[in-house]
Amino acid sequence: MQTISDILTLREKRREWQLKGQKIAFVPTMGNLHDGHLKLVKEAKRHAEIVVVSIFVNPLQFGPDEDLDAYPRTLEQDKQALVELGVDVLFTPSVSAIYPRGLEQQTFVEVPGISYMICGASRPGHFRGVATIVCKLFNMVQPNLAFFGEKDFQQLQVIRAMVTDLSMNVQVFGVPTEREHDGLAMSSRNNYLSDEERQIAPVLYQCLRTLADNIELGRRDFSALISEQKNVLSDAGFKPDYLEIRAVDSLLHPGHEETELVVLGAAFLGKTRLIDNIRVTLKS
Ligand code: PAF
Repeated sequence: MQTISDILTLREKRREWQLKGQKIAFVPTMGNLHDGHLKLVKEAKRHAEIVVVSIFVNPLQFGPDEDLDAYPRTLEQDKQALVELGVDVLFTPSVSAIYPRGLEQQTFVEVPGISYMICGASRPGHFRGVATIVCKLFNMVQPNLAFFGEKDFQQLQVIRAMVTDLSMNVQVFGVPTEREHDGLAMSSRNNYLSDEERQIAPVLYQCLRTLADNIELGRRDFSALISEQKNVLSDAGFKPDYLEIRAVDSLLHPGHEETELVVLGAAFLGKTRLIDNIRVTLKS
C-alpha cells in the first residue's frame, strides 16, 4: 500500500490506473477504523481493481462545540488494517492541502432540503461540510465507485443527492451497518463511552428495533410509538435528540402509500451523541 499525502502525486497515480483501464473504488473515512469501515473496504475490493481509502478528519463538518480536537486519530493502527486488506493507496491529505485558502472563504457544496432536517437540524452546517469534502475528494481521486456506511443514513442520502444534482460520474454504494454482538452500531464515537455507558448504549438500537417491528406489525400511530420509545431512552439514561420515521429516499415524513421507510434515532449518552437507523419495507 502506498500512502500519499499530496494531491499531485495522487493525480499521477490516478492517470496510471486510467491508462491501464483499471476501475477505481473509493472509501472516504475520518480514520480510527473499525470493522464497519473494513466492511466498506472489502465491498470496494469486490467491485474494482484499485481501492483508494482516504483518512481526513474534516474540520468543516464539525460544529464549534463538537469533538474535532478529541476525535480519535489512530493512523498507524489504521494503516496496518488497510495493508492487511490489500488497499492500493491510502490518501492522507493535510488540512492546508484540502483547504488552501482557509475555512472561512472556502467554496462549499450545499444540498438543500435533505441537509437541513433530522441530523442537519441538530447539527447546522454539518452536511454542508460533508458534501463539500466528499465533492473535493471525488475531484481528487476521481473514482468510478464510492462506498459509504448506511449507519450514517442521512449522510448517504445527501451524497446521493449531490451526485445526482451535480451530474457526478460516480456510482455510490451504501453498505449495511456493522454491529457489535449486542446490536450497538459500530462507530468511532463508541470509544468515548465509559464502561457504564457502553452497557446502556445498545438501548438505542433496541428502541429502533421496537419501532420497526411495530410498524411492520401494522401500527401507524407514529407519534405515539415515537414518544413511547423516547421514554424508554430517557429511562435508560439517554438524552434523546430525535426519533423519526421517514421515507427512505427523500427522508420526508412518509405518505400512506410509502412502503420503503427508515427509522432513525440520535441520542446523547453523557457527552457522546450516538446515531443509528433501521430500514423497514412494508408489504403493499
Ligand atoms: O462518514 C465519515 O466518516 C465522514 O463524514 C466522511 C464521509 C469521510 C466525510 O468526511
